Amino acid sequence: MRVLLVIGCLVVIAGCTLGRATFAEDQLETEWNSYKSEFGKIYDESEEWLRKLIFRDNKKIIDAHNERWAAGDESYEMGLNQFSDMLPKEISERLGTDAEIGLDEDVEVDMESYDWSDYGDFKMVPSVNWTHMGAVTPVAFQGHFNSSWAFAAAGVTESRQFLKSGKLPVLSKQNLVDCCRGNDNMVPRALVCIKKLGGIDTEESYPYRGLTGKCSFKRKYVGARIDKIFRVNPGNEQALARSVTRGPIAAVISFTGLMHYKSGVYNDPHCGEKSNYAVLIVGYGHCKHFGDYWILKTSLGPHWGENGYLRLARNKNNLCGIANNALYPEVV
Ligand SMILES: *[C@@H]1O[C@H](CO)[C@@H](O)[C@H](O)[C@H]1NC(C)=O
Ligand SMILES: *[C@@H]1O[C@H](CO)[C@@H](O)[C@H](O)[C@H]1NC(C)=O
Repeated sequence: MRVLLVIGCLVVIAGCTLGRATFAEDQLETEWNSYKSEFGKIYDESEEWLRKLIFRDNKKIIDAHNERWAAGDESYEMGLNQFSDMLPKEISERLGTDAEIGLDEDVEVDMESYDWSDYGDFKMVPSVNWTHMGAVTPVAFQGHFNSSWAFAAAGVTESRQFLKSGKLPVLSKQNLVDCCRGNDNMVPRALVCIKKLGGIDTEESYPYRGLTGKCSFKRKYVGARIDKIFRVNPGNEQALARSVTRGPIAAVISFTGLMHYKSGVYNDPHCGEKSNYAVLIVGYGHCKHFGDYWILKTSLGPHWGENGYLRLARNKNNLCGIANNALYPEVV
C-alpha cells in the first residue's frame, strides 16, 4: 500500500516536471528557430546543439535585464542580435583587433596640440551630433570579420573630408584591409598607411568583400588624402569632448560587455578587459534620466543597437576605455 502511494506520487511529480520541461523546450525551440532565420544562422547538427544552449543562457540574461529596464532600474535595453548565440570570449576573438596604441610605436602620431586658450572662456556646447549635421556616412556591416579598425579609420577620414570640402565620400574599407593590415595598433596604423599610400580609394572603386586579399589601391580612385594624424590626450573625457566639437574621432573601446546592447545609455563598468572594438565618436549629449553620453557609430550594421549606433555613458571614469585611443587625421 505504502509502496504504491510512493510510486503514485513519483508518477505525479514526474508527470508535472515532464510537462513543464516540454513546454519550455517547445518555447525555446520556437524562439531559437525564429532567431536563426532572422539572423541567417546555419549550423550542422553538432554545433546546433551547443549554439542553442548558449542562446538559451543569453536569452535568460536579456529577459532578466529587460524586466529591470521595464521597471526603470536600468539605463539601457538589451535585445537579440548577431551575438546572441555566442560566448563573450568568442566575440572578443572574432572582433578582436588588439587596437591599443603602444608607447614605443613606429607609427607617427602627434599629440593633439590645439590651443583651447585661444578661445578664451571656452564653453562646451551641451550636445553635438555630427550625423545630424550630415557629416557621417551610413552605418555599414563588417560581417563576421574583425575589421572594425578599417571602418573606424575610413569613417573618421570620410567625416574630416566632409568638414574640409563639404563633400562626404564613402571610402574603401577593403583598401585598408588589403593594404594596411598589421598585427596591432590597427587604427593608427591604418591612418599612417593612408598617408603613406597617398590616399584611400572610394568604396565604389574598391568595394568591401570582408576577406583579406591582394592590395589593389589605385591612385586615380582616391577619395581622401591625409597629412597629419593626431591623438587626443589619453584618458581625458573633457579633452575628448572638446575635440569632438571640432569633428568625429576614431576610438577603440572594450566591447565584450556590450554584446546584448539594444538601446539607451550603456553604463555597466564590466565592458571587458581589452580594447578590442574600434568605433567612430560622432557626438555627445545629455539625457535627463541617464546623464551624459557619447554617441558612437559602429560597423555592426543598421540593425544592431540604435540603428547601428550606441550611446555610452560619458564622464563615468572613462567607461570602456573610450578616451584611451582617440585619433583623427588632418585631410589635405
Ligand atoms: C582576424 O580574423 C582573421 C580570419 O578570421 C584571422 O586570421 C586574424 O588573425 C584575425 N586578426 C586579428 C587581429 O584578430
Ligand atoms: C543624431 O542625429 C541623427 C540624424 O538626425 C538622429 O537619427 C539620431 O537620433 C541623433 N542621435 C542622438 C543620440 O540624438
